[in-house]
Amino acid sequence: NWTTGNIVEEQVERIRQQIGDSKVICGLSGGVDSAVAAALVQRAVGDQLTCVFVDHGLLREGEAEQVERDFVAATGVNLYVANEQERFLNALAGVSDPETKRKIIGREFIRAFEEAERAIIAQAAAEGEKIKFLVQGTLYPDVVESGGGEGAANIKSHHNVGGLPEDLQFELVEPLRALFKDEVRAVGAQLGLPQEIVGRQPFPGPGLGIRIVGEVTKERLDLLRKADAIARAELTAAGLDNEVWQMPVVLLADVRSVGVQGDGRTYGHPIVLRPVSSEDAMTADWSRLPYELLARISNRITNEVDGVNRVVLDVTSKPPGTIEWE
Ligand code: XMP
Repeated sequence: NWTTGNIVEEQVERIRQQIGDSKVICGLSGGVDSAVAAALVQRAVGDQLTCVFVDHGLLREGEAEQVERDFVAATGVNLYVANEQERFLNALAGVSDPETKRKIIGREFIRAFEEAERAIIAQAAAEGEKIKFLVQGTLYPDVVESGGGEGAANIKSHHNVGGLPEDLQFELVEPLRALFKDEVRAVGAQLGLPQEIVGRQPFPGPGLGIRIVGEVTKERLDLLRKADAIARAELTAAGLDNEVWQMPVVLLADVRSVGVQGDGRTYGHPIVLRPVSSEDAMTADWSRLPYELLARISNRITNEVDGVNRVVLDVTSKPPGTIEWE
């Protein structure tokens, strides 16, 4: 009979045995799994761990800071940050096709991660050390599905940090292999990780890059980040975080419609709200959010986000719609 305390103790002991006094690295995505895996390894072997955060500029408002500031404050981990916003914007310039965007983001992510890896290996070598292990936040359902990610791998090319190619130069450390998501969250809380990280809803590896229908640009990312932050803040304020599985906020950058704002005509972009309820993301239903909440989100987004003059609600279940728009 497992308690969260048991799981932590047992995993910490196992990790110590596996890693010994070697050096280990771990990629952080901003998501729950990689954060909890890293925190467990940090608890077990402390400074032998270096975490890598590739900031691709496609995260939501506040998420990079959660990793760089809050996660570090909570764990004391050594963090190597690769600021790669420019690189991803350049690679995505002129690209609108969803699968092409996914492939580009996945490819650049692996390259950026490998560059960071090389820098850390070189640094360790200068100190006469070798990196022998790589941490991955693989969960039990991933093991069972063997690479199926969240089940939609055949429909969309999935990408996440757990999906890095198995690097043959490293031995893998997978401290979450026996756990389900709710257990991972409990372990994270037990390890003192901030609620914003532990309670985070699913967010795709390619991030906001696949929530902009059309080309990804800096301006569009900034606009979408603002709209998304408003929608999330209002959902939380309404106390409904636990009612929805996730709520993608999507910018239809290739669509414009006429509006009237202040004393003038506008020709702006729509924002789509896609709140869904689900058990496992394989199927989903659209969440029946209260009209008052929807009204507040709509008013605030159209008032506060320049360039948006319409907010629409996606009322499609999955199937036939997927949760994400791309
Ligand atoms: P769809 O859009 O296929 O999404 O209904 C199902 C679930 O998977 C998430 N998703 C991803 N997660 N890497 C991930 O780690 C990805 O590339 C990716 N694409 C979609 C999506 O947010 C939903 O929870």
